[in-house]
Amino acid sequence: MNRHLLSAADLNRDDALLVLDTAEELARLADRPIKKLPTLRGRTVVNLFFEDSTRTRTSFELAAKRLSADVINFSAKGSSVSKGESLKDTALTLEAMGADAVVVRHSASGAPHRLAHWIRGSVVNAGDGTHEHPTQALLDAFTMRQRLGRVEGLHVTIVGDVLHSRVARSNVLLLHTLGAEVTLVAPPTLLPVGVDAWPCDVSFDLDAVVPKSDVVMMLRVQRERMHGGFFPTTREYSRRYGLDARRMATLPDDAIVMHPGPMNRGVEIAAEVADSVRSTIVEQVANGVSVRMAVLYLLLGGGMAEAVESAA
Ligand code: NCD
Repeated sequence: MNRHLLSAADLNRDDALLVLDTAEELARLADRPIKKLPTLRGRTVVNLFFEDSTRTRTSFELAAKRLSADVINFSAKGSSVSKGESLKDTALTLEAMGADAVVVRHSASGAPHRLAHWIRGSVVNAGDGTHEHPTQALLDAFTMRQRLGRVEGLHVTIVGDVLHSRVARSNVLLLHTLGAEVTLVAPPTLLPVGVDAWPCDVSFDLDAVVPKSDVVMMLRVQRERMHGGFFPTTREYSRRYGLDARRMATLPDDAIVMHPGPMNRGVEIAAEVADSVRSTIVEQVANGVSVRMAVLYLLLGGGMAEAVESAA
């Protein structure tokens, strides 16, 4: 594997499977009374979050702690960033403190790539603007494999605000690498320019696609990134692109419903769908910890054999 994880495209099929298999071994830990491994003792992981986060930040923190790393949580609020310190100077400061890995979330697409040029440690992209969120795609693939037994050959439908979604982009790339077939469904105003070059299909008709899907992944409508009207009304959006119980009933028997969170209940997903047995939303969060443990472990130099051994 590369030293950094900046994009889902950094992973070839073998790398991606190695992460998923390692995560599976590490997940066994979660069932034990003592959940900690000594693997990253003495290593330092910095969580550098310039944007709000609940799941991703806490999950990286827990992942690093379960591997016994020292963890520094840095958020832009309350730091010298609010005094105008640049990303570069912030990075160099962390480097001087001996960070072995920097997990970064930033509103600017490409920020983790810049960071990777400035520091010696590993950089993990935890979401950059509307660009990528590779560990989310990995935990989503892990969840599909856990529920459905495979990723290859699955029909995965990703629905909603694709334009602003780093989750969608990373999922399309990773799922393609793993041999799934992806269809994006969104209003034309919420599709990015150049989407025709992505390795997936595009549809505007959710009712036509749902009955052929093994997985339906709903995306949050990202109002904080919208400056202008992308659809007439929320009601109209929900009617055409939301997943309610009626639509969910047209899914094949074993199909699952995913959402990366945070959800807008009643907008892109009805509460009864989010809380149904098909929903994997809570599992996705739990799996995020195992997948991020695997990523930190593999980037900081461990191989699969050692992961298996230390989890044994
Ligand atoms: C996503 C994100 O931040 O990109 N959430 C997450 O990481 N679980 C999706 C979103 O904000 O809608």
